[in-house]
Amino acid sequence: MLRLAVLISGRGSNLQSLIAYTAQDTVPAMIVKVLADKPAAGLALAEAAGIETETIDPSLYPDRASFEESLITAIDKAKVDIICLAGFMRVLSPSFCRRYLGKIINIHPSLLPQYKGLNTHQRALDDGAKQHGCSVHIVTAELDDGPIVAQHQVAVNTADDQDRLAARVLAEEHKLYPAVIGAIAAGLITIRTDQGQLRLDHRSGAIPGHIPGMEQHMQWPLPTCPFHSKEMAEK
Ligand code: GAR
Repeated sequence: MLRLAVLISGRGSNLQSLIAYTAQDTVPAMIVKVLADKPAAGLALAEAAGIETETIDPSLYPDRASFEESLITAIDKAKVDIICLAGFMRVLSPSFCRRYLGKIINIHPSLLPQYKGLNTHQRALDDGAKQHGCSVHIVTAELDDGPIVAQHQVAVNTADDQDRLAARVLAEEHKLYPAVIGAIAAGLITIRTDQGQLRLDHRSGAIPGHIPGMEQHMQWPLPTCPFHSKEMAEK
C-alpha cells in the first residue's frame, strides 16, 4: 500500500480527486495525512473522508527552517512513501527538497517547462498558445523544474478567457494526478534516487503526453470527480 501525504493551501479540488481515487478498494494507495500551511478550505474535504489533517502556519515560526522542521516531523510521523503537492503555494527549501528527493511530486497547471510559476493560464493566452495543459513532475530545489512524470494537453480555443481555460485544465488535472498515483502504486512508474540523482523509469517506455502504461492502468475504475463535471469543463 502506497502511503501518501497531500499538502494543500486552498480549495483542494486536486486533493478531492485523490481522495475519491484512493478510496477505491482496487487502488493500492491511501492518503494518510493532509497538511496545510493555512486554514485551507480543502481541509474539510479530508476531514469528511476521515483523513488526519494538520495545519502548520509558517507565520507562527521565526523562519522557514523551523517551519519546515515542523513539516518534516509531521511527514515522518505519518510514514509516507510519497508527498503530493496539490496546490501547495509555498516554495520548499533546497534542503527540504533534498531530504525527500524522489518522494515529492507536484501538479502544475501548464505544460512544463512552459509557464513555471503563477498565472499560467493568462500567460498562455497572452502568448497566443495553441496548446496548454498540466504536468505532474518530481519536485527538486528549482521551482517547477524537476523531471516531468506525465502531462495532459488541452487545446486553447479562440473564445477562451482565463477562467474557461483554467476550468478545462483543472478537469485534466483531476484525471492526471490520480492516474500518476495509480501508476506509481502499480509499479508502472518508479522513481529512484542514486547518489543524489533521480531516476524515473516507465515500465513500458516513454509516451509523450501520457504515462507509459497508463492506458492499462486506466482500465481501473476511475471515480467521477465532482470537480470535473461537464458543465464546469464547458464553462
Ligand atoms: C491547481 O490548478 C494546481 O495545479 C495549482 O493550484 C491549483 C490548486 O487547486 N498549483 C500550482 O499552481 C502550483 N504551482 P486545488 O486547490 O483546487 O487543487
